[in-house]
Amino acid sequence: MPAIRPGARGAVISGWGTALPEKIVTNDELAATMDTSDEWIQARTGIKERRIGGTTIGLSVDSGRQALEMAGLEPSRIDALVLSTTTPDWQWGNAAAVQNELDLFCGAFDVNAACSGFVYALVTAHGLVAMGADRVLVIGTDTLSRITDWDDRATAPLFADGSGAVVIESVDGPGQLLGWDLDADGSALPILQADVGGTIKMEGQEVFRRAVRIMVDSAEKSMLHAGVHPEEVKLVVPHQANIRIIQAACDRLGIPIERAAVVIDTTGNTSSASIPLAMADALETGRVQNGDLLLLVGFGGGMTAASCVLRWGGGVE
Ligand code: UT7
Repeated sequence: MPAIRPGARGAVISGWGTALPEKIVTNDELAATMDTSDEWIQARTGIKERRIGGTTIGLSVDSGRQALEMAGLEPSRIDALVLSTTTPDWQWGNAAAVQNELDLFCGAFDVNAACSGFVYALVTAHGLVAMGADRVLVIGTDTLSRITDWDDRATAPLFADGSGAVVIESVDGPGQLLGWDLDADGSALPILQADVGGTIKMEGQEVFRRAVRIMVDSAEKSMLHAGVHPEEVKLVVPHQANIRIIQAACDRLGIPIERAAVVIDTTGNTSSASIPLAMADALETGRVQNGDLLLLVGFGGGMTAASCVLRWGGGVE
């Protein structure tokens, strides 16, 4: 992937929001319906509970509205809406439906790169800013519970529902995006797939093995483009698929897991929402200050991978 051209118009995140369904499903509740246990799920995945319910459009409206409010923006000031989802409510027009409900007057389109989708959407939004957009709303939402086979213990404990959103706004000085990487290897599509109208089928161990490799590879490319070394990264915001994948990727990147944002214990794998949910949690618990370097990195079906390095607040310290 190319490096950012010097002088390209940049942006910073000026607001964010999250939405989770009210219904909590614990591991014990799952164990009551299938041959599994809280002990197994926690030990193998790090998940204790997950949120189930809602629609992709409804959750997106909730997180998107919060992000607009935090940014202090009237809806009419948004120039574009990018909605990342792999579980659309409709074949098309999901972003347009969110645009309508939020009273936006702008272009709106869906992006689907599975669990890498939020970073794909965020990088795309920065591209729109480089081409003249001033304010872009980026939402990552998935309702994976609707495409989960609830009789399959190999997948059912993993997937869940949620949404996260950010507003990015153009800035005069250097923006926040220092480096990015978008990657895909379609030869690995069969190991993690869902037919249209079907449920998720997964070769868990093979996905695990590749996930660590492609996350590390993508993260290293973004850091190289950004001119950033792992020890300078204040916070890694990884896709929340499995705590053991996060641990292995951090180990290989040489970044202590204490510097990773982790919410998988309470959210499960929410695909497009997992990175913005983890980032929002870190922001709200005071883990990020202006000038800090963040490394966002995801992987997912396709298989896809995506990462970017952000300097929080933009500019140079
Ligand atoms: O967004 C990307 C989506 N996907 C992923 O990131 C998934 C990546 N893969 C993984 O996270 C892991 O491979 C899993 C969590 C899916 C599975 O963990 P694992 O350590 O790879 O387990 P395994 O598939 O090797 O299975 C170990 C044992 C098997 O039993 P035997 O053959 O050793 O007797 C499974 O049948 O665990 C059994 N097992 C379970 N036992 C209790 C599989 N699922 C369960 C379960 N409860 N839910």
